[in-house]
Order: sequence, then C-alpha cells, then structure tokens
Amino acid sequence: MTDRINRRDFARLLGLSATAVSLPAAAVAAPAHHQDITAVRSFPKGFLWGTATSAYQIEGAPDEAGRGLSIWDTFSRAKKTYTGENGDTADDDFHRYREDIALMQELGIKAYQFSVAWPRIFPQGTGAQNPQGWDFYDRMLDVLLAAGIEPYCNLYHWDLPEALMSVGGWQSRDTAKALADYSAVAARHLSDRVKNFITISEITAFVDAGYRYGSDAPGLKLTNAEVAQVTHNVLLGHGLSVQAIRANARPGTRVGIADNAVSTLPVIETPENIEAARKAYREENSRSLTPIMEGRYTDLYLKGLGADAPKFTPEDMKIISSPLDFIGLNIYEPTWVRAAENESGYEVLDMPKSYPHMAALWLQLGPGGAYWSPRFLHEIWGVDEIYITENGAASTDVPTKSGEILDVDRIFFLRSYLSHLQRAVSEGIPVKGYFLWSLMDNYEWSDGYAMRFGITYVDYTTQKRTIKLSGEFYKRIIATNALA
Ligand code: FCB
Repeated sequence: MTDRINRRDFARLLGLSATAVSLPAAAVAAPAHHQDITAVRSFPKGFLWGTATSAYQIEGAPDEAGRGLSIWDTFSRAKKTYTGENGDTADDDFHRYREDIALMQELGIKAYQFSVAWPRIFPQGTGAQNPQGWDFYDRMLDVLLAAGIEPYCNLYHWDLPEALMSVGGWQSRDTAKALADYSAVAARHLSDRVKNFITISEITAFVDAGYRYGSDAPGLKLTNAEVAQVTHNVLLGHGLSVQAIRANARPGTRVGIADNAVSTLPVIETPENIEAARKAYREENSRSLTPIMEGRYTDLYLKGLGADAPKFTPEDMKIISSPLDFIGLNIYEPTWVRAAENESGYEVLDMPKSYPHMAALWLQLGPGGAYWSPRFLHEIWGVDEIYITENGAASTDVPTKSGEILDVDRIFFLRSYLSHLQRAVSEGIPVKGYFLWSLMDNYEWSDGYAMRFGITYVDYTTQKRTIKLSGEFYKRIIATNALA
C-alpha cells in the first residue's frame, strides 16, 4: 500500500493545499469554456438518432401467418448454437411491436432499422408469395410512422429461407437472383412508406461464421475457395438487389448497405501510420466494401487467394458496384495498424491477451473506429452520406434489487464511441445518423440469450421491458443532440 498515492497526496504533489476545498464557490467555479459543454460537443442539426434490430433476433412467431422456415430455425432447433437456444419466442415482438415502438417514442428515437424476414414473404425463398406475409410489417409500419419514427428497412439480416439451402444457399448464384426477386417485391410493397432500404447486413460476418467456421447458420465449414465464391455470390446478390429496388421502388427511394467494414486504426496518429491505416482500410475491406466501391477486387486480394480466387465476370463486377445513395457502417472492434515497409505498406498488430473487451469476448474496445472508418470511407471513395448502421455493446446487466439495470459499462462504451463520432462530424465528415444496436436485448445468434446488447432490458420469462441506465443516457443525447 505504501507506494500507492491516494488522491489527497496527488493534490499535494500538484502543489494544491488541502484548504482548496474550502475556497469560496466563485473561486472554484468551472472555467467559462466548460459551462456549456453541449455547445461544443453537439451533432449537426437533423442528425438521425436511431436504433436497430433484426427479424429473427426479435420477432419470434416462427409458425404464424404462413412464415416459412429459415436457416436459423433449423440450425438453432438442432441445438447447434453455443447455448442450445433458439429464436422461437425471442422478444415476441411479432405480438408486442406496439410496446416496442412506444419504447422508442419514450426514448425519443427518430429512426428505426428493422429487417424483413424473407421467409415470411417467400416461405420457399422464391416462387409463390405468401399473401399474409406483409400483414405484420404493414401494421408495424403504420404504428411506427404514426409515432413519427423513420423506417430504415433491411432486407437481409441473415435469415435465409431454408428452402434455398437445399439448392446450395449462397453457394449458388441463383440465391443472388432470388434475393433480387424478393427485393423487387419488397420495394413495390413498401416504398410508399419506406424511403430507405438496406440490401444486406454484414456480408463477411455471416459468410465467415456460417460458411467458413460453421458457428452460425447454416453451419458449414467450407474451403477457402468455396468461401471466396460464396462471398462473391453474396456481393452479386447485393448488386442485383440494388438494381431491383431502383427498378421497382417509387422515385426518391434510397438504397444502401450495412457493412461491417474493418476499422483500421493508426496505432499512433503519425502521418505515416495514418497513411498506412488508409491503405489498410482498402485492403482489409477487399471482400466487401472495396469491390462495392470500385467494381474490382484488389490485386493483393486476388494474389493472396491464388487458385482459390472466385470465378466472376466483368459484368458481375459492374452489378456489384451499382451506385448507392449511402453507406452504412457497423462499428464494433478495432484493427490496429502501423506503417511497414512491405508490399502492402502496413502491418496489422496482434491483440495482446490483456486487451479490454465487453461481455462478448469478440467485442474489443476500439472507439476510434467511429472516427477513422467514416473518415477513410469519405476520403478514399468520396462517400458523402454515411450512417453508423450498428454500434453497441453487450454487458452483464444484472438487475438491482429494485429492478434497475445500472449498465455503466455500456454507457462508458457508448460515450467513448460517440466522442469519436462527434470528432468526425465536427471535422465535416458526412455521417448523417447513428443506429444503436440494440433497442432491446434479443437473440444474439449463436450466443443465444446470454449476450444482452439492448438499452432496454428484456426479462425473457415475462417479456417485461425495462429501460436501462444506458437508455436514459441515449435519451439525453437525443434530446440535446449532443454528447454532454
Ligand atoms: C452484429 C450483427 C447483429 C448483432 C450485433 C451484436 O454483427 O449484425 O445482428 O449480432 O453484431
């Protein structure tokens, strides 16, 4: 203990006397520039504060209104997830959507990113539409719009119709075509109320977890060559979906993607490392963002794959790079980079064992991603409309005796990321909105219900919702449009 300095010792070292605490109030008042902190840490006028969820993670009701099976029903019911749990009930949002929209209203949320369950609309993936399929989304959208909340509709958040698996899933190019057909129908049906569509969520995340490692549905462990082809087919599906939405939606409809772009961060902000991180942003995102932006795979990517490179045509690449109205970035963990004298010009640093993370071990802290990722996206490709389509954290969330959830760790996480986002917008980087993942705790894929990402707590035995302290924190940010 003796070599530790307590706070009073620290003050003494700084030359302050213990009597400082009894100075008159005026003498210790905060300096003028600290008094209106919201004025300096504000977000641009009209900044869109939102929350995000996805169909399989919240809806439940897998057998209602003619819904078909999705790969997540099959995978989770076969107990292939870490916890053996499935999304049969999840948040029961299919029946409780009014309550969930009321929660958003209570928090002051301005935009809601939800996803449509493809198997509700096409139970067999293609072919006959289920006439009841839209009822739920129609009712939900009516309530949402009446609440003054702007819908952002995501068409593919991982719940592929099981019927398409029997014909190869994303190993088949036909699935890309099927996504386009479903997107056309969705655009025709929804674009009178939905102005913003997202084609797909996190291409490389679901391809790697589902087709390379087998930890997520459909649980395959394919070779490198097969995974590269699956990734290409999904990219093609994205491009065809963009074209289908444009051809079928009302004029003025806008299309984007929610990409889990690798956030490459300069480990120390020297000009050399920043340049290295910029190069790394393009290369490390060579499986999704870069081909979407440039219509080509990078030379290093193809060289690295060698004989495992995907088969594609120039026409594919044109489709994949169909122009978008906005890019959504899902920002979670960082990739630390420094300059290096090698072919790529950068080096990705290993994470030490002691690196800090949230309750989900993969969620290592990297708040700088909220600054650097949009900055590079803007600088490299001139993207001038960017959203953070997901950002949030799992924490342990143990309710107190009185039932409060005092998730100061999630607040710490959000404050850190939002500080960096505020740095971005204050430098004129065109981030137009932010969707917090997630409105409420939900079925966290192979982690089941063990990982809680909500700013609202869900008691899964009673389905009772309780706004967490982080929800109050977010509410305050929205109300002031500033990070106080
Ligand atoms: C993202 C997913 C989302 C949720 C969060 C925690 O990668 O898109 O569904 O699982 O992570």
